[in-house]
Amino acid sequence: MSKKVLVTGAAGYIGSHTLIELIESGAYEVIALDNFSNSTKQALERVKKITNSEFKVLETDLCNKEHCFSLLDKVGKIDVVIHFAALKAVGESVLNPLQYYTNNLVSLLNLLEYCKVNQITNFVFSSSCSIYGNADELPVTETSPIKKAESPYANTKQMGEEIIEHFLKSLPQHNAVILRYFNPVGAHLSGQLGEYPLGKPNNLVPIITQTAIGKNNLTVFGNDYDTRDGTCIRDYIHVSDIANAHVLATNFLLNNKNESQVSLFNLGTGNGVTVLEAITAFEKVAKLKLKYTLGARRAGDVVAVYANNNLAIKKLNWKIKYSINDMMLSAWKWQQTIENDGI
Ligand code: NAD
Ligand code: WQD
Repeated sequence: MSKKVLVTGAAGYIGSHTLIELIESGAYEVIALDNFSNSTKQALERVKKITNSEFKVLETDLCNKEHCFSLLDKVGKIDVVIHFAALKAVGESVLNPLQYYTNNLVSLLNLLEYCKVNQITNFVFSSSCSIYGNADELPVTETSPIKKAESPYANTKQMGEEIIEHFLKSLPQHNAVILRYFNPVGAHLSGQLGEYPLGKPNNLVPIITQTAIGKNNLTVFGNDYDTRDGTCIRDYIHVSDIANAHVLATNFLLNNKNESQVSLFNLGTGNGVTVLEAITAFEKVAKLKLKYTLGARRAGDVVAVYANNNLAIKKLNWKIKYSINDMMLSAWKWQQTIENDGI
């Protein structure tokens, strides 16, 4: 019998791509949970179409403990929880910190309580490179110092990690993998699933693809940084590579590979790419010239951050499949699907 994996935030960008990888591994039955506050049901329909499979969908808010628990009680024994559900817009979190603390922390606390009561001993958590802030040393390793959070969003990730660590100390039979993503970008190679920002996107790649079709205007935030071309450096990583790491983390937990109760892994390619290099990669694969302006620095941006990913490669057996060109081409293909299908 295949193991049951509960995926929270399953209709979101990374959750939906992870459903595909879990289903295609052939080893897992997935249960998707989402309140659709930052996603649509259509994303799950697209996953079903791509994988040619059906799965249970629980529409509930993780902050609504009673409703959520009553739905979860009906699905039977869950083996692993992968917890993506969270609000993730850094700027919005500065404007509305209470919404971010409430949503991201109450949902985590409720889910951990459900795991405790129901002896679900395997937990995978979405964390972020934003917890490293302006790192003193590059590339950052899992033991690099955690800097004071620059935003309520980043703080919910730092606090989330700590909550999980304290939770595990109280329950020796429970285990967790914490995955710190760098900059997930791109779309499923089929061109049938990708990031669909509700409202105006904040992240570079959707802004690039929207600019290319004339629906947005790209401004490069600062070209006077101390980097090779003056623009900020990030570690862009294909969303399907990130998704695949969740299958490996699930295998890792179920095969009792955790050396301590909690394992931390950076998920990035290890390559720093500047904003101008990202634009050039896009122009190359899309075969067009992008119109953009060079503008002022964006408040809160770190100059450069990229991962040391040795641990994920060694311990999870993670293999990165996609290049920056693949990331840009798949994102571009998805932008065209959005246009053609009128999504
Ligand atoms: P997303 O917004 O596309 O997906 C999150 C999903 O969670 C959405 O479908 C949303 O409707 C759902 N959700 C939010 N609050 C919920 C609640 N209370 N109950 C039920 N569902 C709820 O975001 P994403 O890009 O897929 O990110 C997934 C996770 O990875 C998040 O925890 C995010 O903080 C983290 N992360 C994302 C990035 C990134 O750049 N995308 C980087 C690092 C970490
Ligand atoms: C990338 C680069 C911008 C838009 C954010 C979160 C982080 C994590 C990943 C969740 C930067 C530049 C961007 C634009 C630009 N998410 N840029 N013009 O800020 O690295 O990380 O997403 O955990 O926590 O902070 O990603 O895509 O916004 O920016 O020049 O219109 O592109 O300055 O150098 P960021 P991003």
